[in-house]
Amino acid sequence: MGSGERLILLVDDHDATRETLTEVIRELGHQVLAAANLFMALRYIEEKRFDLVLTDLKLPDGSGKEVLNRLRQKSPEIPVVMITGYATIDSAVETVRMGVYDYLTKPVDLDRLRTTIKNALRLVDLERRVGLGGALDAIVGHSSRISEVKELITQVARTDVTILIEGESGTGKEMAANAIQSISRRSNASFVKVNVAVLSKELIESELFGHEKGAFSGAIRQRKGRFELADGGTLFLDEIGEMPLDSQVKLLRVLQEREFERVGGTETIPVDIRLICATNLNLKKRVEDGLFREDLYFRINVVRLRMPPLRERLEDLPLLAEHFRQKYSARYGIDRKFAPETVEALKRHSWPGNVRELENAVEGSVVRSSGEFIRAECLPEEIRGAASPPLLDLAPGLSLAEVERQYILSELSRHEGNKAVAAKSLGIGLKTLYRKLEAYSGDEEGEEPE
Ligand SMILES: Nc1ncnc2c1ncn2[C@@H]1O[C@H](COP(=O)(O)OP(=O)(O)OP(=O)(O)O)[C@@H](O)[C@H]1O
Ligand SMILES: [Mg+2]
Repeated sequence: MGSGERLILLVDDHDATRETLTEVIRELGHQVLAAANLFMALRYIEEKRFDLVLTDLKLPDGSGKEVLNRLRQKSPEIPVVMITGYATIDSAVETVRMGVYDYLTKPVDLDRLRTTIKNALRLVDLERRVGLGGALDAIVGHSSRISEVKELITQVARTDVTILIEGESGTGKEMAANAIQSISRRSNASFVKVNVAVLSKELIESELFGHEKGAFSGAIRQRKGRFELADGGTLFLDEIGEMPLDSQVKLLRVLQEREFERVGGTETIPVDIRLICATNLNLKKRVEDGLFREDLYFRINVVRLRMPPLRERLEDLPLLAEHFRQKYSARYGIDRKFAPETVEALKRHSWPGNVRELENAVEGSVVRSSGEFIRAECLPEEIRGAASPPLLDLAPGLSLAEVERQYILSELSRHEGNKAVAAKSLGIGLKTLYRKLEAYSGDEEGEEPE
């Protein structure tokens, strides 16, 4: 999929970079047109139809932003990868906001370049095939893990196949279900969601299959269940792993026979639904533990979609953080950018609550922020974490040597005096650290190495 030769525009004024990147793109089997300045780039854009554009942000006669703007007018679907000369999160994040597909920092990591190109072309393919980028675009992320998920979604969404979405809490299972539904053939039909975990054992069957008047005390009138309401459309059974065993038998029967009876009823009602299930439990383990019927497991596990945990796709974190920052900036009317240290702190966290935890953290930090930037101290404590260095309170006007001294000592104290660990975190050799400590003579840290 996504194979075949493509035409890529590369804009960079640095000869050696242009040559290296051209080489890499050719090796991937694509054609390249290389422009050394904005003028040539704009000319190529008028003349040719590209599949992907890679452009340097800083050009001798202008900016990569102008390349982006022209493309957005002409062919908004073409992904643009921005190459930024300085590795500041800010400029990277700014380019993301301008609508670039991704950014690369210089010096360009060639492996990262290859992955970025492959993923970008793959998504172009998907969007062309499906003719609907929107639903998938809502799932933010360019990592190969999430690209695989999006690819699988487009492959299976249009069929009526039953899909099981697995993933830890907050990984975007419901988002995936929404995307599947919205690009399926049933997108205009009903979409009924049921969270099995919140239904009581007593009510679950009536909830799913409906009931007849008088079926049980309290059933004062006939009621349609979710299966009936979803007829002709899609039914999403969320947290299916929590379903009680008795109800599992009934569910299995409905899935096999495609018909059911309301609780307390005798009429058999045929139903045409597309089923999507989600769970944050390990269903296979539940089967082994006797908590989930194996036959039902096989029945719903036709196509399995695994939502990756955030810690396994940390490369998506800056994009996601910026996505949520914009969302909540707009909601609260607060427009502050992240301080670089905030993004660094986000990257250090392990995200047991996945994307939802990130979203909540960003929302909170936007609200708590004041001043120019969203600073790390606006993050919840468990995220700011013990790992974040105590903020150095540096007086203005210090010499660089003094700043270095204070920073080294603060790192040392952060690591409880462990010089080997401190040296590692400072990115210097242990010997160098000893030498520097020694030079701060009079200081008790300056003892000789054994
Ligand atoms: N890739 C993503 N891009 C943008 N937002 C996302 C992404 N993944 C998750 N979210 C957001 O994170 C939150 C949690 O996502 P969702 O409800 O789909 O997760 P879930 O896996 O169903 O979680 P749970 O197991 O807790 O029900 C939602 O607000 C959703 O919009
Ligand atoms: Mg959910």
